[in-house]
Amino acid sequence: MAAATSVAAMPPQVVGDQVCPSPQEVAVNWNKWIRQVHRWLSIAFTVSVIATFVALAQEEPVIWVSYVPLLPLVLLLFSGLYLFALPYVAKWRGGRRAAREA
Ligand code: HEM
Repeated sequence: MAAATSVAAMPPQVVGDQVCPSPQEVAVNWNKWIRQVHRWLSIAFTVSVIATFVALAQEEPVIWVSYVPLLPLVLLLFSGLYLFALPYVAKWRGGRRAAREA
């Protein structure tokens, strides 16, 4: 009898001359993309904080600039929480898969 193949263990599928990535590869690419976004948002956040220092040091401070870092910071928070959860979700999924395949 053929062993049941879970979706998470599917190999890449070849359709004609195209190779469709496996679900694991799609997930890994997505995680890498989120990590890159988080990394570049950290630069945007840093630049906006420096701009805030400059804006507030003027004789007539430009107050609105001090709100600009909040946008990259909120995006950093969500992408950071996602990155934080990744290893725990992987462990939890691995445990469930192991239990299913036992
Ligand atoms: C706002 C809440 C934030 C949370 C919850 C958060 C969380 C995280 C987590 C969980 C990681 C992955 C750690 C790992 O597994 O190696 C990470 C990586 C990183 N974080 Fe954040 N972070 C936050 C804000 C920031 C800020 C404000 C900066 C810098 C201005 C920053 C810069 C970075 C960088 C450069 C990395 C490494 C990315 C890479 O691996 O390419 N993060 N962060």
